[in-house]
Amino acid sequence: MATPLRIGFIGGGFISRFHIQSLIEVRDVNVAGVTSLSMTESQSAVDLARSLGVGPDARAYASTEEMVASEDIDAIWICARNDTRVSVMEQVRIGCAKRSTPLRGICLEKPLGRTLAEALEVKAIADDIGVPTGYLEDMVFAPSLVRSKEVLWRRGAGIAGRPYLARAAEEHAGPHSAWFWQPSIAGGGVLLDMMCHSIEAARWLLTEPGASRDSLVPLEVSASCENLKWTQPNYADQLGERFGSDVDWAKRHSEDFARATVKWRTEDGQILLTETSSSWCYVGAGLRHSFQLMGPEYSLDVDMADAGVKVFFSREVHGEAGEDLVEKQNAEQGQMPLVPNEPAHYGYAGENRHFVDAFLGRCAPKLTFHDGVEVMRLLMASYKSAAEKRTIDPADPSLIDYQPF
Ligand SMILES: NC(=O)c1ccc[n+]([C@@H]2O[C@H](COP(=O)([O-])OP(=O)(O)OC[C@H]3O[C@@H](n4cnc5c(N)ncnc54)[C@H](O)[C@@H]3O)[C@@H](O)[C@H]2O)c1
Repeated sequence: MATPLRIGFIGGGFISRFHIQSLIEVRDVNVAGVTSLSMTESQSAVDLARSLGVGPDARAYASTEEMVASEDIDAIWICARNDTRVSVMEQVRIGCAKRSTPLRGICLEKPLGRTLAEALEVKAIADDIGVPTGYLEDMVFAPSLVRSKEVLWRRGAGIAGRPYLARAAEEHAGPHSAWFWQPSIAGGGVLLDMMCHSIEAARWLLTEPGASRDSLVPLEVSASCENLKWTQPNYADQLGERFGSDVDWAKRHSEDFARATVKWRTEDGQILLTETSSSWCYVGAGLRHSFQLMGPEYSLDVDMADAGVKVFFSREVHGEAGEDLVEKQNAEQGQMPLVPNEPAHYGYAGENRHFVDAFLGRCAPKLTFHDGVEVMRLLMASYKSAAEKRTIDPADPSLIDYQPF
């Protein structure tokens, strides 16, 4: 295979576009194809890749199977809706069987499925295909977290002892596509959608650099879920007006707020905690997105929403609503944060740099479908804990068949 690695995207929506933009900062990669539910959407993502110079030969494909079978594609990034994980992986397997050379790898966006059973099925299909996998969790590649973890562990933990508490919160005003608001399609609400990031980033901050995931064992999960905003009749109506009759949050809802505490044990028996919270009912200038790490003689505070730039527009400035300053922007006037390079700041550039290198054979993938399964185990334990109002052991085998919705 010649470099660059030629990627095919399954899904041409919000996150695929973020990934494509991030590739400006990644060497040895090209976008070679996009497939989605609509050729127009796929072509639009192809046009974006071409306009950015990261996909000179990119083209839209009519189906996943056709794109995966093409010898013009070396690796697949799966960025489609949550309910399609198993069916998409089945099509990937059929496409792979038609190739003369194996794919170099398959990356998959969070979550790995809607349930732990689906996540395990996705992993089993990938094992059967037999190519390297990557679980896409951008936060553990965000430069501010990567650098601060390195400094805290080297200076703080190296001298005073390991950190024992990690906190992570991610909150915004709610997702952009109708399907996120349909529990049967999304598989859950904000807990599944956003706590996957917070739980994994908090676990990773507490894990000694270079140590494996198994070095921390999750012992107990205690969580709660609420509907604080969007089940209120006027707000449920707003969702119906915005997304159409398929969304009826008053009758068919998941949750718009969640919190979870996970107790972990280290190899030498020390107890650590992660505390995470996620919400779709925060209205501020953009996202509220923070991380803290505490150890015996040190602490870390990261405000991911503050990239150090603010702009101000007076009441005389009237413009169209948009997300041109920051993701999940809620206003166009007053003092607003600006994130100059969101694809790099949130970790997509670092994440894609890593998985491109891994699939080109330069290193082992840091996160695989195995890691995605372990994140799902904690999310399902969180749902079960919230539903049954008790602490759950994440090793509980009944979590495999647990269906929150
Ligand atoms: N890492 C992150 O921070 C992050 C952020 C947003 C979304 N995501 C994840 O990425 C995935 C996509 O989310 P999004 O925000 O881009 O959604 P979106 O609604 O903007 O786009 C969804 C895309 O999936 C495509 N699609 C749906 N079913 C398909 C199928 N069977 N085959 C091929 N394509 C199909 C649609 O045509 C569309 O292009 C979700 O699983 C979501 O959880 C991750």
